[in-house]
Amino acid sequence: MAKTKIAVLISGRGSNLQALIDACKNEEYPAEIALVLSNKADAAGLERAADAGLETLVVDHKAYEDREAFEAGLDKALKNAGIQIVCLAGFMRILTPWFVDRWRDRVINIHPSLLPAFKGVHTHERALEAGVRIHGCTVHYVRSEMDAGPIIGQAAVPVLKDDDASTLGARVLEAEHRLYPACLRLVVEGKARVASEHVPMRGSVEAGQRLFNPSPFRSTQNDVKPDNAA
Ligand code: GAR
Repeated sequence: MAKTKIAVLISGRGSNLQALIDACKNEEYPAEIALVLSNKADAAGLERAADAGLETLVVDHKAYEDREAFEAGLDKALKNAGIQIVCLAGFMRILTPWFVDRWRDRVINIHPSLLPAFKGVHTHERALEAGVRIHGCTVHYVRSEMDAGPIIGQAAVPVLKDDDASTLGARVLEAEHRLYPACLRLVVEGKARVASEHVPMRGSVEAGQRLFNPSPFRSTQNDVKPDNAA
C-alpha cells in the first residue's frame, strides 16, 4: 500500500524528527517523510534530514513581509511536495487560523507537558516549580491557540526527588521519541479522527493500572503510607 507523505517542520535540534526518521525506516510503518522544512537555515535537524537522504527546505520567516505571507510560502511548499500530514517537531512558530483551517486535522504537534498543563516554553522548569509528581508529553492536533487542540496521545513520566529541568527534560524527551511515532501511526491509519473536538480514546490501558506518587507499594520508612497500605 502507498505510504502517507508527511512533512516534518522543525526549528532546532530535531531529535523528534530523528525518532520519526527511524520509525519510517520500518517497512511496516505507514508514513514516509517527503519533506523536512525549517524556518531556520541553521537548524541542526536539517543535517539529520540530509544524512537520511531526505528532501529539505528552508522557509525563513524573516524573509517574508508578515505572518500571512510566510504561511502562504509554507502552504505552497507543502502542496508542491504532495504532503498529506504535517508534523510539527520543535517548530517554534504559532500558526494563524488561516493556515490551521486550510490544513485542519492534518497538522499535529508534540509538546513537552501533559496538556493542558504548562503550555508554552520552559515546561520542565515550570513543572518543577509547581511541584507536580507526574509530568510528560502530549501529541495533539493543532489549533490556532498555542499548544491547544484535540489530544491524540500522552505519555507520563515520574518527577524524581533530585530532578532538575535537564534530568526531567531528558526523561520527557525519551518519552516523546516513543509517543510521536505511535501517534502519527494512529493518525495515518485513520484511527485518531476528531469528533466534537476530541479524539475518541483507543488502547488497552486497564482501569486498575495507575501511576502513583508516593508509591503505595514500595514505601520507605519516611514515606506517608496511604490508609489502605499494610
Ligand atoms: C521538544 O521537546 C518538543 O516537544 C518541543 O520542542 C522540543 C524540540 O526538540 N516543542 C514545543 O515546545 C512546542 N510547543 P527536538 O528539536 O529535539 O525534537
